[in-house]
Amino acid sequence: MKLIAAKDYAGLSRKAANIISAQVIMKPSAVLGLATGSTPLGAYRQLIDWHQKGDVDFSRAVSVNLDEYLGLSGAQEQSYRYFMDQNFFSHINIRRECTFVPDGLAGDPQAECARYNQIIRGLGGIDLQLLGIGGNGHIGFNEPGAAFEKETHLVELTESTRRSNARFFQSPDQVPTHAITMGIRSIMQAKKILLLASGENKASALWNSFFGPVTPGVPASILQLHNDCTVIADEPALSLIRKNTGWEDMVYDN
Ligand code: PGA
Repeated sequence: MKLIAAKDYAGLSRKAANIISAQVIMKPSAVLGLATGSTPLGAYRQLIDWHQKGDVDFSRAVSVNLDEYLGLSGAQEQSYRYFMDQNFFSHINIRRECTFVPDGLAGDPQAECARYNQIIRGLGGIDLQLLGIGGNGHIGFNEPGAAFEKETHLVELTESTRRSNARFFQSPDQVPTHAITMGIRSIMQAKKILLLASGENKASALWNSFFGPVTPGVPASILQLHNDCTVIADEPALSLIRKNTGWEDMVYDN
């Protein structure tokens, strides 16, 4: 794992956008695994800016998102399909039919999970998977549990995740109880992983994930076993790692 320190959120976003644009420049038909949430927003804004200046071309890129709430349609503001359209896809030249997000309104969620697995397989896997991290160490909606779930699956969201996502809804009880998420195997099979963490509320998840034991109780800890995983974190998110390891440099490589 390579851990890169960023001074602040703006720096983190620029570094992340640099890595994503380099991927698309090196391989224009790249399959990008994308994430929602507050953390990647700055990177998406930076990529939009570079795209609009003519520096990054997404016309041959394909994207496959990590997850979607069950019960929300893509037209609903809180859905992850809507988030991606509003915050990224509608501002760049990726072809809409090449952007994949699980269907939150699927009548048969298990069949939707199987369909999504097929999509990922059919694309030949993911070149670069962008990840945020939950305060509880989740990646995508792979919540802490007794085992690592391998494939795309239906998940019951933990109370802490629902509470933390309530900020996007009018009231906490509107947060869906379930979601469809890509599984740990698909994430781990991505050729490259880029995980972003910003803010002090991520400090303990980051410490536990990358310096603690590999355990399904901290889903992101599995990334310690990936051989091309880059983590970019701002100083507040790094605070526990700095304190516990005495590490002072900008890049930590192990
Ligand atoms: P956030 O969410 O970027 O909104 O903090 C990250 C996550 O829960 O994976």
